[in-house]
Amino acid sequence: MAAALASTHAHWSSRFAFIMAAVGSAVGLGNLWRFPFMTGQNGGSAFVLIYIGCVLLFALPVLMAELAIGRHAQQSAITSTRKMAIEAGKSGKWSIVGWVCTAAGFLVLTTYSVIAGQVMAFSAAGFAGGFAQPDGATMFYGTDGVKMLWHFGFMVLTILVVSRGLKGGIERVATILMPLFFLVLIGLTVYSLINGAAGAALTYLFAPDFSAVTGQTFIAALGQAFFSVSVASAIMITYGSYLPRDSNIGSSSVLIVSADTLVALIAGLMIFPIVFMVGMDPAAGLGLIFTALPQVFSTMPAGNFIGGAFFALAFIAALTSSISLLEATVAFVEENASFGRSMTAWLLGGFAFMIGAGAVYSEAFAGGFVDVLSGQILLPLGGFLVAVFAGWVIPKSLMRTELSHASPGLFAFFHFAVRYIVPVAIGSILVLGLDDRFNAGRLGAMVGLG
Ligand code: PFF
Repeated sequence: MAAALASTHAHWSSRFAFIMAAVGSAVGLGNLWRFPFMTGQNGGSAFVLIYIGCVLLFALPVLMAELAIGRHAQQSAITSTRKMAIEAGKSGKWSIVGWVCTAAGFLVLTTYSVIAGQVMAFSAAGFAGGFAQPDGATMFYGTDGVKMLWHFGFMVLTILVVSRGLKGGIERVATILMPLFFLVLIGLTVYSLINGAAGAALTYLFAPDFSAVTGQTFIAALGQAFFSVSVASAIMITYGSYLPRDSNIGSSSVLIVSADTLVALIAGLMIFPIVFMVGMDPAAGLGLIFTALPQVFSTMPAGNFIGGAFFALAFIAALTSSISLLEATVAFVEENASFGRSMTAWLLGGFAFMIGAGAVYSEAFAGGFVDVLSGQILLPLGGFLVAVFAGWVIPKSLMRTELSHASPGLFAFFHFAVRYIVPVAIGSILVLGLDDRFNAGRLGAMVGLG
């Protein structure tokens, strides 16, 4: 490796390890929890189609840009963006790109762990026979104190993995858990399609119906695409910095977004047949999988086991994602402070735990403020900045060097997207979306301005 690009940190031990870790990061609660309820709240099939469009047009090019930036600079998101801007003869203040993404990822982590804690609790409830009554899971997730304990437990697991580092922690967990994840996912989906209302679910998800589309549908789909692919949150720049120079970023990116989108669609096929079987409202919102599914599990043969397995699946997905969320901030602090990896992971994880604890006590804070701020403002803003950075700040020739394996067609699409499509589309969505929300007084009220 050239001296200018020398880095002190570790690299992935194989392409398989990188793909498992990156797919593990992308596939998470975003696919199993957020995608179903966003689809339910935004009109089903119309949302699904717009979502797929957003993944291809926005998330894929931003993912390629992030992996390329990280691999080129071999540092955390903040340091990489500063270093690359300076190298390109621009101001080091462009590290704002890394700052916004790192803040977004850290904020997501705070409440992510709360939801993941609930997922863990429900998995335990299932395996312990708690779904025998419709509200049986409340035994495991009833009081705020108990909720806090699960949130704490999940965060500690995340910290333990990250503190063990790239090879001993992140890679090991991803290469073992992700193949297991896919096995359980296929098994549960087949079960659900055979036993649930498959026809209704297929129509709901895939029969074109654009009557429910509004401007808000696009904002929701865009935020969901970034959330689900793990872009705009400093993760993929950080994971890219662990890539060896000869890796093929274009093909890896296509693989990561394909796997992630496939899992979201399969999750829809797993969850909606069950939702429709009992006539639940698909637009039930944030609690869709926590209210609808346990009711169904309580009436199904082997419902406890199936329910326990479903939430175990979501737990695996959540853990391989939360470690990537924490890793992105840990990588930055580790570069700049002398605490060492383990201490850094405990400090930052502890801080995220405390902010998340606020969300346990206030659903408005969790689902409203944090989710809207991170999912619909910071992530789109981060994606916008990454695109401007890769399309306008960094010379095209430099991006081409990092994406040298990409076919001319893929590179041309990439560069056009980061230069024009992503900035223009997100720029207008952000301005209109923010304007809408402030006018409606919702966000204004949440941040104390309304
Ligand atoms: N992509 C993961 C998910 O969909 O759950 C985790 C994640 C990463 C969520 C980055 C949000 C985010 F900004």
